[in-house]
Amino acid sequence: MSSIESICCIGAGYVGGPTMAMIAKQCPHIKVHVVDLNQARIDAWNSDELPIYEPGLDEVVREARGRNLTFSTEVDAAIHAADMVFISVNTPTKTFGIGAGRAANLEHIEKCARQIAKVSSGHKIVVEKSTLPVRTAQAVKRILANASTASFDVLSNPEFLAEGTAIQDLLKPDRVLIGGESKEAIASLVDIYASWVPKERILTTNLWSSELSKLTANAFLAQRVSSINAISALCEATGADIDEVARAIGTDSRIGPKFLKASVGFGGSCFQKDILNLVYLCEHFGLNEVADYWNQVVSINDYQKSRFSKQIVRTLFNTVSDKKICMLGWAFKKDTNDTRESAAIYVCRDLLMERARVEVYDPQVSEQQIRADLEYIMRDENGELSSYKQSLIDNVSVVEDPYQAADEAHAIAVMTEWDEFQNLDYSRVHKNMSQPAFVFDGRNILNHKQLAEIGFEVHSIGRTSLSPNT
Ligand SMILES: NC(=O)c1ccc[n+]([C@@H]2O[C@H](COP(=O)([O-])OP(=O)(O)OC[C@H]3O[C@@H](n4cnc5c(N)ncnc54)[C@H](O)[C@@H]3O)[C@@H](O)[C@H]2O)c1
Repeated sequence: MSSIESICCIGAGYVGGPTMAMIAKQCPHIKVHVVDLNQARIDAWNSDELPIYEPGLDEVVREARGRNLTFSTEVDAAIHAADMVFISVNTPTKTFGIGAGRAANLEHIEKCARQIAKVSSGHKIVVEKSTLPVRTAQAVKRILANASTASFDVLSNPEFLAEGTAIQDLLKPDRVLIGGESKEAIASLVDIYASWVPKERILTTNLWSSELSKLTANAFLAQRVSSINAISALCEATGADIDEVARAIGTDSRIGPKFLKASVGFGGSCFQKDILNLVYLCEHFGLNEVADYWNQVVSINDYQKSRFSKQIVRTLFNTVSDKKICMLGWAFKKDTNDTRESAAIYVCRDLLMERARVEVYDPQVSEQQIRADLEYIMRDENGELSSYKQSLIDNVSVVEDPYQAADEAHAIAVMTEWDEFQNLDYSRVHKNMSQPAFVFDGRNILNHKQLAEIGFEVHSIGRTSLSPNT
C-alpha cells in the first residue's frame, strides 16, 4: 500500500470544503489542496467569512488552513502534485437534451477526468466523491486511460454528510463507504479515514455497489419523508395528529424514530436530484415499474409543497392578492445557508403568482440569494424572465428582523425550522399584524396552543387547525 502524502480535491463546495477540512485536521501529515474554478468561492474559503454556513466548520478550517490545508484556483498544479485526487464537483439534474429533468449532468465530472488525464504523470488514485449514476467509474476510467504517461486507480467514496450537521457527521460517520477494484488503492483510502474513524465503520465494496448505495440511501431517506407527508394529508382529513402517529410508529424498532417529521416538503440539492437520477437509470434498463415507484416519492413532495400554498390562499378567504405574507426562513433546513430546492422557493412562487406581497426573514440567507432563486424559478423554458414575472418578484422584500417581516402581515408562514423562530415574542408579533392573524407552520415547530391563546388562527402539517380562543 502506498502512503498518501498529498491530496487534491476538485470542487470547493458544500462537500469538498468540509470533507477536506476534516481530512486535513485529522491527518496533519497529509497536504490537502482544495481547488475550484470559482475565484469568489476560493477567496471566501481563504477569508474569515467562509462561503458556507455550517456549525463548527470555522474551527476546523482555522485549525488546518495554512498548516496543511490550502484553497486555490490552481487546478492543474494541484492535480499534478497530488497522489490522490478527489472529484467533488456538482452533478445537477440535466436541464437540456436527452434525459432533461431527470438524468444527472455529468459535464463537470467528465471535464475533471479529462483535466486529470492531461496534467498527470506517475500513478494517481482518483476518488469519486460526487454522487454519480452507477457505472460512471467506467467512463472515468476510459477517459483516464487516454493519459499519455500516467496510470490510475479509480475509487468510489460517496459522501453521506447532511448539511447543518456536516462536521458532526464527518467526525463520527455512521459509515464510510469505499468501492474499488484495486486492493492497494482501497487500503490507501481506508488508511486516511482510519486516522479517526473506527475500522469497523469503514465499509469496502465493489465500485458499482458503492455508486448505487449513495443513490439508494438518499432515495430511502426521501421516501420516509414523503411517506410521513402523505399520511399528514390523511391526518388533516380525519382528525388524527401526525406527530402522535409518527411517535406511535417510530417506537416500533423495525421502523425507528428518525426522519419521521412531517413538513412542507423536503428540499436540498440532493434528494430530488438523486431520485430523478435513479428513476432515469431504471428507465434506461427497462425497469419501468421500479422507475414509477421511486418517481412517486418526488410527486408526493411536489404535492406537499403545493398543498401548503393552496391552504394559505384558501384560508385567507380565497385571495392573497395585495396581502402581505411573512415568510420565516428560506434555507432548505436549519443550520445551513443552502437554499437549493428549498420548499420556500416554490411556496413563494405560488404566492407571488396569486399576487401576494411577501416579506422574507432568514438568519443566514442573503437577499441576493433569495432574488436569484426566484428569478431562476420564474424563468420560462427558454430561460427568459418576462417583465410580468419580474414585477411579481418586485413584490418580495427581504429584511433582517423577523418582527419587521411580520409587521402588518396577514399571515406568517414558517418555512425553515430555525430554533430562533420558537423564541419570538408572538404576543408582540400578533399585535402588529393585520387581523385576523394567521400562522401556517410548515415545520410544526411552534407552540400551537399558545399561539391560539394569543389570538392566532393556526394551521400546521397533519394536524387539525386551531381557532383563536381569546
Ligand atoms: N450538498 C450535500 O449535502 C451533499 C451531500 C452528499 C453528496 N453530495 C454530492 O456531492 C457533489 C458536490 O455537491 P456540493 O453540494 O458540494 O456542490 P457545490 O455546487 O456546492 O460545489 C461544487 C463545486 O465544484 C466546482 N466545480 C465544478 N466544475 C469544476 C471544475 N471542472 N474544476 C474545478 N471546480 C469545479 C464548482 O465551481 C462548485 O464550487 C454532488 O455530486 C452532490 O450530489 C452533496
